[in-house]
Amino acid sequence: MTRRLRTAVLISGRGSNMMSLVEAARSPDYPADISLVVSNRPNAQGLTRARDAGIKTIALDHKAFKSREVFEDALHKTLEDHDIEFVACAGFMRVLTDSFVSRWTGRLINIHPSLLPKYKGLHTHARAIEAGDSHGGASVHWVVTEVDGGEVIDQVKVRIETGDTPESLAEKVLAEELTLYPRALARAIQDRVV
Ligand code: GRF
Repeated sequence: MTRRLRTAVLISGRGSNMMSLVEAARSPDYPADISLVVSNRPNAQGLTRARDAGIKTIALDHKAFKSREVFEDALHKTLEDHDIEFVACAGFMRVLTDSFVSRWTGRLINIHPSLLPKYKGLHTHARAIEAGDSHGGASVHWVVTEVDGGEVIDQVKVRIETGDTPESLAEKVLAEELTLYPRALARAIQDRVV
């Protein structure tokens, strides 16, 4: 068995994807140990959920830092202080610049609710519906400096039905994200980290 990598999950909100990783990592065979959850929003619901699951949590309010770079330095130091080896963004709503990304390249992944390379950025479900697409979905990808631009590790497709709204599609896609992300994190670690 490969050694379990000390993994941090970065969140900003309710943390459903983060919890799916926490659940998967309960299995001793899973290649990641969720050692830390960091939120840039101190009131994120996900922080409470992680704490209730016995995971160490830290809030780093980005508004308390004078620039994006200073926030990212603090985030990097927090991860280093906790001996973090791998980072999974899960509903983390801050754009990460090269100052952070370059220090974590090959150890930093994200989940995005679209079939990348389609619909990088926001409002993905509304854009897929407006375009008349037959499917929406979600992708887990390596993080590079271009937002949502890194190589895709794994994807899941969800059929768009007549009458779907951005909200109904988001709900259906999220249900699939919860199995996609644990599978993709395991694959990412097995593919890239020896
Ligand atoms: C998910 O749909 C994820 O793909 C997107 O933001 C949402 C986060 O939800 N990046 P949660 O915080 O995991 O519940």
